[in-house]
Amino acid sequence: MEAADLLKKEEVVAFPTETVYGLGANAYSSEAVQKIYEAKGRPSDNPLIIHIAEEAMLAEVAAVIPESAKKLIERFWPGPLTVVLPKKGPLSPLVTAGLDTVGIRMPNHPIALALIKLAGVPLAAPSANRSGKPSPTQGRHVVHDLKDRIAGVVDAGPTGVGVESTVVDCTTNPVTLLRPGGITLEELEDTLGPIRVDPHLEKNTAVPRSPGMKYTHYAPNAPLVLVESFEKLEKLLKQAKEEGKVVGILTTEERQSFYKEADYVLSCGRRAELATVASHLYDCLRQFDQLNVDLILSEAFPVKGVGEAIMNRLQKAAGGNTVKAD
Ligand code: TXA
Ligand code: MG
Repeated sequence: MEAADLLKKEEVVAFPTETVYGLGANAYSSEAVQKIYEAKGRPSDNPLIIHIAEEAMLAEVAAVIPESAKKLIERFWPGPLTVVLPKKGPLSPLVTAGLDTVGIRMPNHPIALALIKLAGVPLAAPSANRSGKPSPTQGRHVVHDLKDRIAGVVDAGPTGVGVESTVVDCTTNPVTLLRPGGITLEELEDTLGPIRVDPHLEKNTAVPRSPGMKYTHYAPNAPLVLVESFEKLEKLLKQAKEEGKVVGILTTEERQSFYKEADYVLSCGRRAELATVASHLYDCLRQFDQLNVDLILSEAFPVKGVGEAIMNRLQKAAGGNTVKAD
C-alpha cells in the first residue's frame, strides 16, 4: 500500500477507522508526529492516541497493563475504546504531550489494521480534521480540511460509528471515564462494575484529566444552540425568523416535518435508534457550513447509551449555549 510507504518516510496519511478518519504518523518519530500537529493546527499540549494492530504491540508502548485494562481489551478490542496506561518505550514525547501515560486503541477496521501492520509501527492518530472542527466521517471531509497539508488520504467511504472512541483512564482504581464514545458507560460498567466518571464531564469546574476536553470542539461556523425542549425550540425558531436569520434545524426523521418556518432542516438519523444519529452527526454539522446558515438550533438527545457521546459532542459544538427544558 502506497500509504504505508509514505508513513515509512515520516509523512502523515489519513485513514479510515470504525469511528472517524484518523491522521496517522509513525508514533516513534518526532519528525512525523510534529507534522500531525502542524497539519491540524492542534495545540501541542493535547496528546494523541496510539493505534495498534495486534496485542503484541501493546507491550511495546505500555509499561503496566492492569487487570481492569485486560478485561476491557478482551471484550472491546478491536473496537472504539481507548485505554490510558503508563507509557513505555521509544514513543515520541510529542505523542503524549509530556504526560507519563499514553492512550492506546486497536481500531476495528480492516484498512486501519492492514495499514498499521504494513507500516510495522504503532501509529499516532488524532481525528483527521482541522483542530476545533467536527471530526471527519467521510474521506471528503478530510480532503476539505487538510487537502494541501498532508501526504494522502485512504478513502474508504463513511466510517460507521461516527463518534470517536471512548477514552478510559486505567491508571486509576476504579477506572475513570474521560471521554464518552462508541463504547457506552453501560457496557463499561457491565464489564467492570461501577466506574468513576471524570467530574469535568458532568460539571465544567474540575481541571480536565483528558487535555482534549478543555478545547472548543466540533464547532460549525454558525452558532449552535442545543435546545432540550421541542416547544422551546419551536419558539426560538419563530423568534429567529422574525429577526430575519437564516436558520438550520438539526433533528431526526421522527420530527423533520415539524419545522416549516426553518430554512434548512437536516435529519441526522432516527431518535429511536441513537446509533444512526451518532453515525451522521458530524456530516450534518459540516453540511450547515456549506448552507451558510446564521443560526443552528439542535434538538437534544437522551443521555444514555451512545446518547451520552452525542450530547457531549453537541454540548461542545454549542460551546455551553444550551437551553434547558425548564
Ligand atoms: O476514535 C478515535 O479515538 C479517533 C480515531 C482516529 O481513532 N481518534 C481521536 O483522537 O479522536 P483525538 O486526538 O482527536 O482525541 C484523543 C483524545 C483527546 O481528548 C485526548 O486529550 C485524549 O484522547 N488523550 C490522549 N492521550 C491521553 C492521555 N495520555 N491521558 C488522557 N487523555 C488522553
Ligand atoms: Mg479530535
